[in-house]
Amino acid sequence: MRFEIKYRDGMGRVCLLEINNKKIETPTIMPVVHPNPKKQSVPIDFIKKLADIVITNSYIIYKNKFLREIAEKLGVHKLLNFDKIVVTDSGSYQLSVYGKIDVEPNEIIEFQERIGVDVGTILDIPTPPDVDKEKAERDLEETLRRAKEAIKLREERGYRLLLNGTIQGSTYLDLRKKSAIEMSKLNFDIYPIGAVVPLMESYRFREVVEIIINSKMYLPNNKPIHLFGCGHPMFFSLAVLLGCDLFDSAAYSLYAKDGRYLTETGTLHLEEMKDLKEFPCSCPVCLEYKPNELYNLDEKERERLLAEHNLYVTFEEINKIKEAIKEGSLWEFVEKRVRAHPKLLEAYRILKNYMEYIEKFDPVTKKSAFFYTGIESLYRPEVLRHKKRLKRIKYNKVYITNISSKVERPYSEHINIVKTDVDILIKHPIFGLIPYYIDTIYPLSQHEAPELYDFEKNINDRFIEEFINWLRKKIGEENILDIRSYNYYTSLFSEDFDSNAYRIRKMLQYQYGYDILEGVNVRVIRSKNTGRLRKVLNENGDLLFSIRSHDNFLIPSKLGAKLLWEKIPFPKYRVVVNKEAEPFVKKGRNVFAKFIVDADEELRPYEEVIVVNENDELLAYGTNILNGVEMREFNNGLAVKVRGGIY
Ligand code: GUN
Ligand code: ZN
Repeated sequence: MRFEIKYRDGMGRVCLLEINNKKIETPTIMPVVHPNPKKQSVPIDFIKKLADIVITNSYIIYKNKFLREIAEKLGVHKLLNFDKIVVTDSGSYQLSVYGKIDVEPNEIIEFQERIGVDVGTILDIPTPPDVDKEKAERDLEETLRRAKEAIKLREERGYRLLLNGTIQGSTYLDLRKKSAIEMSKLNFDIYPIGAVVPLMESYRFREVVEIIINSKMYLPNNKPIHLFGCGHPMFFSLAVLLGCDLFDSAAYSLYAKDGRYLTETGTLHLEEMKDLKEFPCSCPVCLEYKPNELYNLDEKERERLLAEHNLYVTFEEINKIKEAIKEGSLWEFVEKRVRAHPKLLEAYRILKNYMEYIEKFDPVTKKSAFFYTGIESLYRPEVLRHKKRLKRIKYNKVYITNISSKVERPYSEHINIVKTDVDILIKHPIFGLIPYYIDTIYPLSQHEAPELYDFEKNINDRFIEEFINWLRKKIGEENILDIRSYNYYTSLFSEDFDSNAYRIRKMLQYQYGYDILEGVNVRVIRSKNTGRLRKVLNENGDLLFSIRSHDNFLIPSKLGAKLLWEKIPFPKYRVVVNKEAEPFVKKGRNVFAKFIVDADEELRPYEEVIVVNENDELLAYGTNILNGVEMREFNNGLAVKVRGGIY
């Protein structure tokens, strides 16, 4: 199996997943198909048009003499008439409904191997929500026991079957954690998060979110996560944001049987829709039929068409989510979706308790601007990171000030009379404090907010107070001045002060946490047309950094990379590769995860890093795709997109 991150946002990721030479892109949805075509509401030929991966139930096949014979003779792919990836469940669902089933845990593993399944599932016990803790613990112990047995069986017999190792623990977060820790020790290929169906059905989304995070935090990052039994598109984006890669949907078909019409924001009843002139959807079904026409069709036909519509919207939502990840607008997408239902909003709001963790996976730069859509936006990782990285800057003398919301951003381009080495910190309703000289960097200028913010003032007042306390200890009370208006500092002007060089120095402190230009004389070039920062040259006129226009990050040249290497102590901002990779990386080839021996644990995705060997000799520089923690875990895929080698 191969699993590689291609694009990312939040904890969400667009990945390549390859199983038995079949490649798919995640996040994706596995339609649940019935092994008996007569019980399947939508023909498999229709499913094939949308899906690269399906899930069916091995226990149903096992229990039916007729299906079982075909599967044992021809394999599950022929049985389903589906030659792409086939995943099977184990009968756990039947166990949760009927209380018992007649197959032994390892017997169903053996059977899944025998019928040629791509990914099978252990016979885990889906403990319902709210049971007493002793029961949840007992069930979990049994699931863990079966998990170990299944892995042992696979090893002993040399099975090729990939395995789902389901996380259980009911609504007890400490048990979910334990489950994740124990299951991680076993070599499962995919980790589903189980027993969330009853919670989903009763709109207990906050608990689902907490279960996902408390499992995900202790699971390996290099394995796909499947949210078992979540087939409603209204929840997909939030689950993807938290790192879920796979979903299965029986909902498309179950809902259709019930006359229910899925949308990306909720569920409608066809009965209630029959007087609408048009459907609120442009899928082929909704284009062809008016609501009353569909409603008046005979039952079987109506069910099939409804199921087709349901499947279309399900895939459409996944496709939109993938595009949002590629654009860097997944948070905005989720903030739009969670407003469809107060229970979703409640679930989203709980993320603020986990933001320290989530922030580690969130890219430091994005193509899209940060949109403020409500007070929840104030807790986003971009804001949290800024507040932390403010402490990376070396302050001398500080003025803290307000600015009129009429002043356009970037402030530093509009109040251009300031030329001083005083660090002016502007109070800001989203980011708390924005240092005047770095305000062109993402997201400090790349954000949109209403002019009259309805923000919770206390959040930032508390932050500013804490920050000033920290500053007092650093530079002393006498060097901090709280001033009310920027008119005061517009008088700060010194003709021979090179504010451009000072600004770049501050920007690098913020980007790296080290004073890269200490003792280095530079010349800063601005664009003749726009006046924007463009390049940083050394005394001899050689390029050190270019300033990327969309986010104002400083992008090192070869000389710039050497400077970073000199000024930043090991292992900070470094990715360490082995001997084997060295000659390739030096020539400017990309760094793949399998060659990595170490990395700065604190690296966030999409920073500008340096690549070194185990003796800390500089080999290359580039943009990291994986964060510092993932660098150690992943064994395939791109880790650093190299800009240039040091040959
Ligand atoms: N389908 C929905 N939930 C579950 C679960 O917890 N375990 C298994 N095996 N299948 C499921
Ligand atoms: Zn439709």
